[in-house]
This record gives sequence, structure tokens and C-alpha cells, in this order.
Amino acid sequence: MVIDSIAVKAEEMYRPVFHFTPKENWMNDPNGMVYYQGEYHLFYQYYPDDTVWGPMHWGHAVSKDMIHWQRLPIAIYPDEKGYIFSGSCVVDWNNTSGLGSKQNPPMIAIYTYHDPEGEKSGEITFQSQAIAYSLDKGRTWSKYEGNPVIPNPGIRDFRDPKVIWHRESKQWVMVLAVKDRINFYSSKNLKDWQLESEFKKQYETDEGVWECPDLFSLIDQDGHEKWVLLVSVNSKGPQGGSATQYLVGNFDGNTFLPDHTETKWVDFGADNYAGVTFSDIPNVDGRRLFMGWMSNWQYAQVVPTEKWRSAMTIPRELTLKKMGEKHLLCSKPVQEMEAILKPSKRITENEYRSSQISYAIEIDETLTSASIRFSNELDESFTIAIENGEIVTDRTQAGKNTFSKDFGVIHKAQLPFKEISNVKLFVDTSSVELFVNDGAFVMTELLFPTTPLSIISTKGIHQFKFSAIQSIWK
Ligand code: FRU
Repeated sequence: MVIDSIAVKAEEMYRPVFHFTPKENWMNDPNGMVYYQGEYHLFYQYYPDDTVWGPMHWGHAVSKDMIHWQRLPIAIYPDEKGYIFSGSCVVDWNNTSGLGSKQNPPMIAIYTYHDPEGEKSGEITFQSQAIAYSLDKGRTWSKYEGNPVIPNPGIRDFRDPKVIWHRESKQWVMVLAVKDRINFYSSKNLKDWQLESEFKKQYETDEGVWECPDLFSLIDQDGHEKWVLLVSVNSKGPQGGSATQYLVGNFDGNTFLPDHTETKWVDFGADNYAGVTFSDIPNVDGRRLFMGWMSNWQYAQVVPTEKWRSAMTIPRELTLKKMGEKHLLCSKPVQEMEAILKPSKRITENEYRSSQISYAIEIDETLTSASIRFSNELDESFTIAIENGEIVTDRTQAGKNTFSKDFGVIHKAQLPFKEISNVKLFVDTSSVELFVNDGAFVMTELLFPTTPLSIISTKGIHQFKFSAIQSIWK
């Protein structure tokens, strides 16, 4: 049953034009992203009764292109075992679980139960891992009667299972966030799991609790396969608060060994958290596709939207680039985005002033010191500048920001290369996503201007390509 794919009304302030949002109420992490029978599924942490976090459900939407979404009824509801926290989905093609058949392979959701009663009573064993299955393209879900499949071993933070099929060892592998480390489990049938190893940084960190891991392999430009471990950290992100790191290394089916000790960020902006990648993308496609939650726990629950809270980032393709001895994880907007870009215009200096509220710009010239300033008739403004090898964004005057002391601030991030040759920027009603040099550097930021911001001036940029972006909602 389709609940709606109806247009969102223009008076809904800050509702993004080309980003996924729930029709109403609270959303956080993307969950269970999987491709099956021509559909991309997006499940997400959802509280249907309020615009702040509450008892978690899995909301659901499907898409044929990751851009236009159809909202579906809630997929998984909390029950006596607890709230349904973050997790993943796989297609069990060979019916290893026995929960479907080879002709109709089950989709399996692997999620965390968070038992609020247990938490209140002061015990620490209130998070465990469970599975549910669907035999009708994700439309209805049954919980496995043997849940939990991984009971809590006596650790307070024990959540967010991401499951992959590990081809070489012919087994399912689960990465799980356990306090400030990642546990690796293996299974032949998605029901019985063995702990294989544990990964922890070799030095003390103050990143808070680890959340929402992911594990996948990518081939760099020299044809070498590397494994990438994503870890979202609850505090001390590059702009403060929550953000997602990655580690590049080797994985043999049991143990992950990183190549480096330094911290690497998937995105240097303040607003891309808990992102993970789609499962079961067909081999003929072969891309590693990612979406994140476009917010930050520092202020996610108080941002000035009324009926709904939070959006997802635009979908991104992840690739691995070797630079010297190091690997860099690049994320660029998926090519499907092109379909919603209206024909582009070349804009040269002094031609700015566009009344569009959602648009993309692309700059194809070498930049060293440059800036773009966005403003509106109320003199609210936002700037992005390249200065001394850093990207600096300033949202101190960009509209509403009194809801949190952490919001209206200047953000800085060091670029990992000297020369900028390409910049892509996607501007929506309440966000800006910046991709530099084919996604080798990314910054995602929320903004809440009172009226839309347009580009009013640039420095050090001679011309750019401008394309208005169409709404993804009919
Ligand atoms: C990350 C997170 C997860 C948890 C979920 C609860 O944002 O805290 O660790 O499963 O959100 O909604």
C-alpha cells in the first residue's frame, strides 16, 4: 500500500526540494539500505508521534533511482523486547536462513533491540541484536521467533549491526558497534553468530561511543582491493559533535587490520552522520552507494522545522583514491542526480541574483583563493571560502541559529590537496553539500535562512555552471 508521494506544500518552511524527508515527525539514521528487484529501499530510525527522538520504529521508503522516493508504511514496530534501533538489510539469495525459499529469497533485516525498561532499571544489558524477514519485497515484516540472535554479553553500548556477505570465506559477517570498538561476528545462516575479533584504536580517544559501522571493499585506481571500515563517532567530529570516520585496511573474513593510525573523515561538514552503504547492488552496477543522516546530535532535535525533523544527504558514490602512500575515500553525488538538474547556464561575474531555491553549481577552473557569498533580502548570508589550503564556511549570519550555541559558527577544514580543479555545490532550502575535486573533499552543512539564499557575489571565480534542481516530489 502506498501512503503518499504527494507534493509537499511550499509553505512548509525548510522542507528540502531534492532530499528525502519523512512526511511528518522525527527521523534519524538511515537503516537497512538495500537494492532488490529494481527498488532501492531506505529504512530509517523513525518516531511517528513527535518531532523529537522517541520509541524507535523503522520507517520505510522505496525508489527506482535513489532520488525520487515513495513513502511506505512503517516497516518494523517496537515490541515487548524493545525499540527498533539502527541496523541493516541483506537479500538472503540462497535462503541460508531458511526463512524464505530459493525461488523467493527472504530479505533479512538485522537490527538492535533497545529495551527501555531494562535501561530504566539500571541494568546494562538492554541492547541485543535481532532479525526480521520479508517475503514480499519489504512490504511486510515478520520478526524471527528465536530473537535475539546475539544476546547482550554485559556491555552497555552494543548496537547497529551491519551485515555483509563475505565472498572469500563464504559466510555472513556482521560489524557491530560496541562501546568504543567494533566487534566482528560470522554466521552461516544469519541466525547463529560467532564472535571472531574485536577492533579498537591503538591509542586512547575521546570520541565518545562508536555507532553505525559499515564494512566493504573498494578497488583503488591501481587495481588494488582495500577494505574500508566506517565508524560514526558520537563526539569530537571535525566541526564538533557527531561525524563519520573511515579506516582503510585489510580484512580476511575474521580480522580487520588498518593501514594507518590517523583519523580520516568521510565528510568535513557538521551535518552528515550515521551514513552507511546499500547492500546487494548488482555486480553489473558495481557502485558503492552511501547516504547519511543530514544532521548532528548537537542540535538535531531543536532545528527550526515544524512538522518533520531531519533529511538524508543526497546519495553518493564512494570510491578509493591512492594519493602517495595513503588512500582517500571520495564521495561524489550519484550520476542519477543529473536527471533532476534543469539545463545549465554559464554564469559569469556580475550576473548572479537567481531566485531559485534549489540549485547546483559547478566550477571547472583552478582555484587557489576564492569565495562564494549567498544572501537574501533580509541580509542574511552564508559564505564558503578557500583560504590558505582550507575550506571555511560561515553560517554565523545565515538565518535562524539561536536554537543551539553550536549551530551559528564558522567551520574550517584543511584540504588534503594543494590544487582545486573542480567544485560542485548542491543547494537546497536548508542545506549545502560541497564536493571538491571529484569528491576527494566533502562538506555537508545545514542552514536555516528566513527566505532562500541566492549567490550574490564571488571572488577568485570567473564563471560557473548553474542548474536549477527540480523537486523530487510530484
Ligand atoms: C545513531 C544512533 C544509533 C542508534 C540510533 C537510535 O544516531 O544513536 O547508535 O541505533 O541512533 O535511534
